[in-house]
Amino acid sequence: MVFFTVNNIIKHFGGNAVLNGINMEIDKGKIYQLIGPNGSGKTTLINIISGMLKPDDGKIIFDGKDITYKSLYDTFNTGLVRTWQIPQPFVNLTTLENFVISSGNNSGESFLLAPLKSKWKKDEKKITDHALHIMEMVGLINQKDTLSQNLSGGQQKLLELGRAMMSDAKMILMDEPIAGVNPTLAHEIFEKISSICKRQKITFLIIEHRLDIALQYADYIFALNGGKIIAKGNPDDVMKHPNVIESYLGV
Ligand SMILES: Nc1ncnc2c1ncn2[C@@H]1O[C@H](COP(=O)(O)OP(=O)(O)O)[C@@H](O)[C@H]1O
Ligand SMILES: [Mg+2]
Repeated sequence: MVFFTVNNIIKHFGGNAVLNGINMEIDKGKIYQLIGPNGSGKTTLINIISGMLKPDDGKIIFDGKDITYKSLYDTFNTGLVRTWQIPQPFVNLTTLENFVISSGNNSGESFLLAPLKSKWKKDEKKITDHALHIMEMVGLINQKDTLSQNLSGGQQKLLELGRAMMSDAKMILMDEPIAGVNPTLAHEIFEKISSICKRQKITFLIIEHRLDIALQYADYIFALNGGKIIAKGNPDDVMKHPNVIESYLGV
């Protein structure tokens, strides 16, 4: 069974076809990048995958489930998580607290269970240990007591990534995770994504513009132009593809 498939997705805005029959197949535990010039339909496609927009036609299957017409919330609950879908961090909470409240099995949230203090205590310990483990992986362990408002821009991105992991995501969608981040930190973020992908078998689908930095971390590229996949495959082959060269040079 293919982990994630997009089948003939079509989307119009007004009279304009923005996605013209998109097909994708994605395996577990790899980094996929979606590239393409401005206006090629990248964000629209991610919006449709995450349940924010409905397609006019086509099908999306994730982990054996048809999620085509599921809401954002239901898609999130199947384990397909778009990072900004997670509510903004609480600026007056520490990094650790922000991780703990993002937990997928936070039974302390349930008022029915709240009176069972012993149950909550047990879960609290388990969730905190899990949070510390993920903070170690994303490289925020030294910031665990830092208020999230005092984290740098790059650390905020790592916080988003870690919180997606706390929600038990199986696949994470990111729209330009290194936008506005300096090159050293941008590499660090992609190295973290790479090691998390390998260790946790989490799949990533990432829109990225800074190809000079991002491409070396991709296992597989989908190149989009005019609402169509014009090339796909490993980064070297895709960047050499005449359609891709043409779409970037505009010749
Ligand atoms: N809500 C919308 N209403 C009308 N047109 C839209 C809307 N969202 C995007 N578009 C158009 O769809 C096309 C693709 O946009 P988008 O998916 O944002 O591309 P990308 O993310 O690749 O830059 C563009 O021509 C854009 O103007
Ligand atoms: Mg976009």
